[in-house]
Amino acid sequence: MVQAKPLNDKTASESNQIIQFNHPVKYRTSEWYTGHGEIVASGDNRSFEVSASYNLKATVKLVNDILSPENPTLAEIYSSLGRCVAIVDLTIDELYGEAIRKYFEYHEISLELYPCRAWESDKTPATVNKILSYLGKDGSDVSRNEPVLVMGGGVLSDVAGLACALQHRRTPYVMIGTTVIAAIDAGPSPRTCTNGSQFKNSMGVYHPPVLTLVDRTFFRTLETGHVRHGMSEIIKMAVTDDPVLFELMEQYGARLVETHFATLGGDAELSEIADEVIYRALFSYMKHEGTNMFETYQDRPHAYGHTWSPRFEPAAKLMHGHAVSIGMAFGASLATEMGWLSAEDRDRIISLCTSMGLSVYHSILEDMDIMLEGQKNMRRKRGEGGLWAPLPTTIGECDYAQEVSSGLLEKAVQHHKEICVSLPSGGEGKEMYLSDLGLA
Ligand SMILES: NC(=O)c1ccc[n+]([C@@H]2O[C@H](COP(=O)([O-])OP(=O)(O)OC[C@H]3O[C@@H](n4cnc5c(N)ncnc54)[C@H](O)[C@@H]3O)[C@@H](O)[C@H]2O)c1
Repeated sequence: MVQAKPLNDKTASESNQIIQFNHPVKYRTSEWYTGHGEIVASGDNRSFEVSASYNLKATVKLVNDILSPENPTLAEIYSSLGRCVAIVDLTIDELYGEAIRKYFEYHEISLELYPCRAWESDKTPATVNKILSYLGKDGSDVSRNEPVLVMGGGVLSDVAGLACALQHRRTPYVMIGTTVIAAIDAGPSPRTCTNGSQFKNSMGVYHPPVLTLVDRTFFRTLETGHVRHGMSEIIKMAVTDDPVLFELMEQYGARLVETHFATLGGDAELSEIADEVIYRALFSYMKHEGTNMFETYQDRPHAYGHTWSPRFEPAAKLMHGHAVSIGMAFGASLATEMGWLSAEDRDRIISLCTSMGLSVYHSILEDMDIMLEGQKNMRRKRGEGGLWAPLPTTIGECDYAQEVSSGLLEKAVQHHKEICVSLPSGGEGKEMYLSDLGLA
C-alpha cells in the first residue's frame, strides 16, 4: 500500500515519509520466492533510504525410492510445468539414467537431461559456464519459475547450484543428493560455489535449493570410500550439536559405512538407524545453516573441521571428508591444548573418526606457512572480525576460537602428532586421497 504524499509537499519536510511496498502482489516473478521493500525519504527532497528483504523457504524431505514409478514426489512437482529440466551427474546418468527416463515417461512428463561430469577437478568456472549454456537460450531455455532438477554429489550440487543462481539471476532448483555428503550437507546447503586456483570453494553465491530430497537408496552404488568420507560431515554435527547422534555414530557408524547406510544386506533395524542418523544430521545442519542462509553471522557449528582444511585439502590432494576429519581431530587436540575440552572427549572424537577409517593426521599440518595462510584466508572469508573457528567444549557443544597464535598452533600440531603416531594407522585413513585428477 502506498501511503505517501508527494515528496515536495511542504509537510513532508517536517517528518520522514515512509512508503511501503508490501501490497498484494499483482504478478510474482517466481512462485518460489517472496520479498518486500520499503523506502524512507528524509523529507528534504535530497536523500532517501531503501531496504528490502527476501524470503527463502527450503524444504527438506527424506523420501526413499524416489525413482520408483509409484512414487509421486517428482511427478507432483513437474506435471504442472509440463517438463523437467535436469542436470545429472554423469555417473548417475550411467547408473540410473534408464530409471530416471522411465519415471518421467510413466508420468508423461517430458524430460530434458544434461549429463555433467562432476569430478573435483571439474569444480571450475568452465563447468558452471557449460551448465549455464544448457540452461540458457541455446539450450533448454529454462524459465525463472521452473525448478531445475539437480541430481548428483557435492561437486555437482555446488556447480549446478551456482549455475542456477546465475541463470536469470536466480532460478530455483530441486536437489537430490546422491552421495552422503550431498544428501546431508552440500545438497541442502545454501552455499553454491566453484573452486579458485588455490583455495577451495572460494567463488560462489548463497542459493539453497527450494526442495532437497534425500533418498539413501542411491548410496548402494557409491564406492565405499565415498560413503566413508561423507561420515565426516555427520560427525561434525554430532560433535558440535547433537550428543545423541554422536552415540549413534559410535555404535553404528562403522556398520553404516560397511552396508552403505543399510542399502546392502537388508538389515531392517539398521535401516531405521540409517534414517535416524540422516534425519538428525540434516536437522542439526539446517537448524544452524538453513536459518543463516546468507551467512550473516559466523557462530556456525558446522564450520568445525573447516577452518584450516580448505587450504590444506587441495594442497595434499585429500578427499574432502578426510580433510575435514583431520581438521576436526586437530581441532579437538587444539581445544584440549586451550583447556576447552577434556582429553577423554578429544580421544572419543579421534577414535570415532578412526573407527570408520577416516584420517586424523597428515604431515601437511606441520607446514606452518600453509596453516597460517589458511587461517588468514579464513579470517577474511569470515569477515575479519575474528577467526570464529568452532572447537568442541564437550560432546555435543562448541565455542569459537578468535585468536590462534602461531606458537599455539605449532604446539597443538606437535601434540596432535604425538597422539596420532601412536594409533595403529598412524593417523592415516583408508582411501584418503582424491582418485580423480585432483587440483593442480
Ligand atoms: N556447499 C557446501 O556447503 C558443501 C558442503 C560439503 C561439501 N561440499 C563439496 O562437496 C564435494 C564432495 O562431495 P561428494 O563426496 O559428494 O563428491 P562428488 O560429487 O565428487 O561425488 C563422488 C563421486 O561419486 C559419484 N557418484 C555420485 N553419486 C553416486 C552414486 N549414488 N553411486 C555411485 N557413484 C556416485 C560421482 O560421480 C563422483 O565420481 C567437495 O567438492 C566439497 O567441497 C560442499
